[in-house]
Amino acid sequence: MKRHTKRFLILESLVFIMSITIVAQSEKSNVTYTKIKSIKIQDTKLKESIARGHEIYTDFCMQCHLPDGKGTPKIFPPLAGSDWLIHKRKESIRSIKYGLNGPIEVNGEPYDNAMTSLGLEDKEIADVMNYIMNSWGNTQNTMVTPEEVAKVKK
Ligand code: HEC
Repeated sequence: MKRHTKRFLILESLVFIMSITIVAQSEKSNVTYTKIKSIKIQDTKLKESIARGHEIYTDFCMQCHLPDGKGTPKIFPPLAGSDWLIHKRKESIRSIKYGLNGPIEVNGEPYDNAMTSLGLEDKEIADVMNYIMNSWGNTQNTMVTPEEVAKVKK
């Protein structure tokens, strides 16, 4: 092989490797972009749901659980910082959907009272769940959807 042909081949393969790297890089950044985009969509959806949930809370829940979510000792359990709400996502949805009565323990305090079903639709329950799970210092990453609420049976 002549010297300059050899050099040309080396140069050729270098260009080839470089172009592969460029394609791989741009695909990688595309994936990241889609990820960021879907997080942003979920973020706005969650914010809108929380805003609707705030209104539902004011109309249907506030008289017992109070504006600050702290409830009334021994009578109405707190939602703010409630270990029940944080750890029992499904039971919380079920209690809002179908009502709840009998003895429960919230943050180490016993309650034995009754909350009747409030007749809310699945979407409204999802919204109010997103509100109470993201207020008064409560935080949850996975948003509640009407589909999740629909799956919760009595
Ligand atoms: C009439 C008063 C009343 C209303 C209105 C009411 N609750 Fe309750 N809630 C209670 C009582 C009482 C309990 C505890 C029941 C028991 O002792 O078994 C409870 C329990 C809960 C619990 C589980 C325990 C906890 O503190 O984490 C959640 C979650 C909850 N309520 C959310 C709501 C939401 C959301 C609404 C509005 C859609 C609502 N409640 C409306 C009285 C009420």
